Amino acid sequence: MIDFDTVIERRNTDSVKWDRYRDRDILPLWVADMDFASPPAIIQALQERVAHGVFGYGNAPRGLLDAILAYVADHNGWGLHPEWIVWLPGLVTGLNLACRATGSPGDVVLTLTPVYPPFLSAPNLAGRKLATAPLRLARDRYTIDWDGLEESVTADTSLFLLCNPHNPVGRVYETEELERLARFCERHDLTICADEIHAGLVLDKSRRHRSIGSLGPELAQRTITLMAPSKAFNMPGLGFSFAVIPDPALRARFRGHMKGIVPDINVLGFAAALAAYREGEPWRRALIDYLRRNAETLVAAVRAMPGLGVASVEATYLAWIDARGLGVENPQRFFEGAGVGLSDGADFGAPGFVRLNFGCRRALLEEALGRMHQALSIHKPPG
Ligand SMILES: Cc1ncc(COP(=O)(O)O)c(C=O)c1O
Repeated sequence: MIDFDTVIERRNTDSVKWDRYRDRDILPLWVADMDFASPPAIIQALQERVAHGVFGYGNAPRGLLDAILAYVADHNGWGLHPEWIVWLPGLVTGLNLACRATGSPGDVVLTLTPVYPPFLSAPNLAGRKLATAPLRLARDRYTIDWDGLEESVTADTSLFLLCNPHNPVGRVYETEELERLARFCERHDLTICADEIHAGLVLDKSRRHRSIGSLGPELAQRTITLMAPSKAFNMPGLGFSFAVIPDPALRARFRGHMKGIVPDINVLGFAAALAAYREGEPWRRALIDYLRRNAETLVAAVRAMPGLGVASVEATYLAWIDARGLGVENPQRFFEGAGVGLSDGADFGAPGFVRLNFGCRRALLEEALGRMHQALSIHKPPG
């Protein structure tokens, strides 16, 4: 029995999420980590590794590559070759490396907005320019505006950053969309960097995550796919992820930019990853069931609140809420005032929106929704 309802106190545990509101009665539903304990298999693997007591530099544990290959074949239908894999301590590192390892300084990096903030900052940090193509909302679902995308690309564009599943809008792109994106990137000769950190968190039973790199061997040559067990198996603080780069020349450039800067993965991250891929699956399935019910609770409650709208959540434990109807300048601050700490949509390129992390106990989520409802029942929109 896996119990996601048990209270695990995270105050005074040096948690980024909980420390923000340390001395205030504000429920933290912002940064993307979950309040649940990690899968028992991971905890046990870490306890055994810690019991050894020696924490020197580590190699990847024997069996890790095979476990990853089996997992990705099973879940993404993609047969990876071991040499394609480059270990990374984090996906944000991977996004920034992708911007440096493709094109030339001054080139343009294109992405779909709203999007996870490092997508917006990585191009400039690499001396590239950012171009954005807004997603379009159609019946509670964000879709790609193909004309807008074509208008956003120029001869200087060399990289397309894809977030799939898409944080914060919760989409899992369908095969037809990925194929059309692939043709678009081929036509404009763009490298594709796909962030798939939320791939293990598909909640909608009618959807299946696919890696764009798996669509064909030729297309794969222009892809950098960033993967990790960190979200689906709830180990984001352990610093384990990897890039999949089939093209040897691109992989060499990527590795070249890591030299002397990007550290190796630590022994605990390696141990946890092996346990996640080998033994974490029953826990992840139970998690998906729990998160699906959280999502249903949340979507129903938010849609009943005046002035708010929420996109349907196909994947992730993040809900993207349109609060422009409230008529307040900063909805993130408005909800903080109501005792609920959300992420500000402005950071994702969309002021007037907020992102809510429902990777928490249902009782806590219900309390937060109650606080939001209460605040809205006394709120008078201007005019
Ligand atoms: C889309 C996406 N990419 C990357 C990350 C962070 O990855 P890491 O902690 O491995 O740098 C997150 C965390 O929320 C995310 O949502």
